Amino acid sequence: MSTILLAGGAGYIGSHTAVELLNSGYDVIIADNYSNSCPEAVRRVEEITGQSVKVYELDIKDSVKLETVFSENKIDAVIHFAGLKAVGESVDKPVIYYRNNIDTTLSLLECMTRYSVKNIIFSSSATVYGEENPVPYTEEMKRGTCTNPYGWTKVMMEQILEDAAKADKELSVVLLRYFNPIGAHESGRIGEDPQGIPNNLMPYVAQVAVGRREKLTIFGNDYDTPDGTCRRDYIHVVDLAKGHVKAIDYILRNGGAEIFNLGTGTPYSVTEIVDTFEKVNGIRINHVYGPRRAGDLPESYANADKAFKILGWKTEKTLADMCRDTWNWQKNNPQGYKS
Ligand code: NAD
Ligand code: UFG
Repeated sequence: MSTILLAGGAGYIGSHTAVELLNSGYDVIIADNYSNSCPEAVRRVEEITGQSVKVYELDIKDSVKLETVFSENKIDAVIHFAGLKAVGESVDKPVIYYRNNIDTTLSLLECMTRYSVKNIIFSSSATVYGEENPVPYTEEMKRGTCTNPYGWTKVMMEQILEDAAKADKELSVVLLRYFNPIGAHESGRIGEDPQGIPNNLMPYVAQVAVGRREKLTIFGNDYDTPDGTCRRDYIHVVDLAKGHVKAIDYILRNGGAEIFNLGTGTPYSVTEIVDTFEKVNGIRINHVYGPRRAGDLPESYANADKAFKILGWKTEKTLADMCRDTWNWQKNNPQGYKS
């Protein structure tokens, strides 16, 4: 049985991926400093799967502490989720973002070299396509110009990992470019639990629905899109998690260096998200239209053909599933894991 280290595995995407890996017969180890998560998420992963997960509470930047994870376990592959991810905060605190996101990557690569761990999967983002590339995005497009330090950390980490793979022919690197993950596990036991005011659309909608926020502001309705609001490629987090299992199967079997978009290929507008959430869940979402948010692109969506062709992965869940599962999580956990 192969053992997978999930760096940042207590977070939103990591916890859902842990469930799917455990259900597929992999052993999972989580290393996390809980800077944006909590031990309860891991406890619930164990509850859902009926399996136990070894956890190390540590800062992955701290390569001395990180080394204990590698010396105490035989790790077959690493999935690197550990990053700070708030776009707006990255503009105000760029040094903290560069330090955290780049150093976690370097510490992991150093330990992997020392312990001959040859497989790494990285949580990248559609943001690396930048402002220049036309939609739908395909993997061979050049990385573009980002509008914020968070995006640049993703561009830089992709470059670092590609350079490391070029220098060490035995090192296999898979870069997964996520589009917009939303939704929650259908049990309603794990989900997205943002600290403070949510930056992203779906958690904001869910908090309006549960009464934690008064109203949603839709940022701009004068874009050159069918209804004037921005369009994104929303992907159910469980589909995304299953994409990681396929990527792990692939990297352990074939190795190599690859990039995959993980998206549905179908964009939906902000208005369509609000309408679908209201319809599926029978709840009204109080909303107003406001000015555009700086840095937003009118459209972002994937061409997801490569992941289907090479990994045999495609999304299965609908936008209605995403809205229903988000609400199931939020209504059962109105204050997130603190509920
Ligand atoms: P998250 O914040 O829920 O999870 C990240 C986890 O990493 C958290 O548990 C956090 O405590 C941990 N972490 C951060 N820095 C750490 C450090 N120095 N040491 C140890 N642990 C650390 O975020 P998520 O939504 O699950 O995202 C996971 C990854 O996917 C991130 O790298 C993010 O940038 C990337 N990503 C997310 C999205 C999205 O919309 N959620 C989109 C594209 C890419
Ligand atoms: N939006 C609103 N009101 C809100 C929040 C968001 O109208 O309160 C709109 C945004 O303007 C945008 C859409 O909803 O048009 C989606 O916004 P999100 O913040 O949910 O998602 P983004 O596409 O801006 O950002 C996401 C990830 C980033 C990643 C980026 C590109 O959060 O990490 O996709 O991949 F960098």
